[in-house]
Amino acid sequence: MVDPLAHVPGDRGWPLVGHTLSFVRDATGFTERNRLRHGDVFRTRVLGREGVTFLTPQATREIYLDPGKVLSSEGGWSNTIGELFRNGLMLRDFDDHHRHRRVMQQAFSRAALTGYVDAIHDVTDRHLRALPDGEVDVYLFMKRLTLDIAAEVFVGVSLGEQSERVNRAFQAAVAAAVTPLRVPLPGTPYRRGLQGRAELTRVFGELVATRRREEPRGDLLSRLAHATDDGALLPVDDVVDHVVFLMLAAHDTTTSTLAVLLWQLALHPVEQDRVAEEVRALDGAPVTPADHGRLVHTSRAMSEALRLSPPVPFSPRRALADVENDGVAVPAGTGVSVSSLALHRHPDWWSDPSAFDPDRFAPGREEHKQHSHLFVPFGGGAHLCIGNHVAEVMVKAIVARLLATRRVSADPAARVVISPIPIPKPKGPMLLTVR
Ligand code: HEM
Repeated sequence: MVDPLAHVPGDRGWPLVGHTLSFVRDATGFTERNRLRHGDVFRTRVLGREGVTFLTPQATREIYLDPGKVLSSEGGWSNTIGELFRNGLMLRDFDDHHRHRRVMQQAFSRAALTGYVDAIHDVTDRHLRALPDGEVDVYLFMKRLTLDIAAEVFVGVSLGEQSERVNRAFQAAVAAAVTPLRVPLPGTPYRRGLQGRAELTRVFGELVATRRREEPRGDLLSRLAHATDDGALLPVDDVVDHVVFLMLAAHDTTTSTLAVLLWQLALHPVEQDRVAEEVRALDGAPVTPADHGRLVHTSRAMSEALRLSPPVPFSPRRALADVENDGVAVPAGTGVSVSSLALHRHPDWWSDPSAFDPDRFAPGREEHKQHSHLFVPFGGGAHLCIGNHVAEVMVKAIVARLLATRRVSADPAARVVISPIPIPKPKGPMLLTVR
């Protein structure tokens, strides 16, 4: 049989499973070993899909911008999150995607975002008041905080007793996204994921129906429930699918960013002092989208956390027709993948890539500006993260509220290993001391 990827360096991995096990076990090591062995373009076979991974900013640009409109995001993401997070924006393509994105934009306008600011700060203040001095697992703390923010800002309710159940349902759906066995046999993670999805659909379905009966309110769910496309409301099922997907896109991504950022600031007291000084200057005022220019060190530290541990480490696509990326022929039906995980630490582009060094983003160095698509934590092109400004406000508001009055420290000898897929998560506790 002719091998359509014979011209691409690399191999097809083990019979049946390909590279799935090595990838799921250690995506960073797998990608790095391939880069060292084969260079910046190599073939992979993960979760039953033949694909080509590109580690150059040029290819990243071509894939994100997709000028020929032949790279399907739905085709790329469907075999991991397709069934669990169906019909989310990332699982739509071209004209259909454009139409839904335009409708959703109504919930991400500057005015909408400004309306979310107070709720973000209120929930944050509540959680921080209840946080005693002493040791805290920063990942778990941020997870609860961002889930509560998602509930109040996005869904417009305090989930209260439902919070744990929603969180469990949601975690089961996320975990199922990378489980190699994708048949819903009883007791398997995939089955639990599908049950989680059903639970989320039920909870949000009821909420959308309630919002539709009420006057429009400021929360994201209400905005989506009342958003129109050429004067018509979206079908309830579409709104539910979008909200379930938004939870996926918003919750673990911001949790991971906050945990990595605070962990690094705890290990780098000088950087923490710089951030603390500028957030104290806010004098208790909330962080707004307009403050990003003032919070210079906070912005650079956040970028550095996103560089070291990008919450969306790979952006997969599927070629619907023969296409060429960065000079490499990709036959129709093949997967192509951008890897911010590897690109953000590529030694050809970054100095001392594994060091936490926020000043690499400062004028005079600006390593990220060597190429428009070298630093891509929020992706690019048509599927560029629609929530990037919400994420920025959330992360900076939480860091500002915490570091305005408290300090964080960590044991430099503690080894925290972060598993990067599907969304970065520490393998054990991530303990900070807060005082
Ligand atoms: C630090 C936090 C976040 C990071 C790093 C991040 C990153 C990304 C990336 C890389 C993509 C594109 C993936 C691809 O092209 O394959 C994406 C898409 C998306 N993100 Fe985010 N995200 C974050 C937070 C959020 C938040 C808070 C929301 C919502 C409130 C959100 C909503 C979305 C949505 C809806 C998409 C799909 C957009 C589309 O397909 O048009 N994200 N995100």
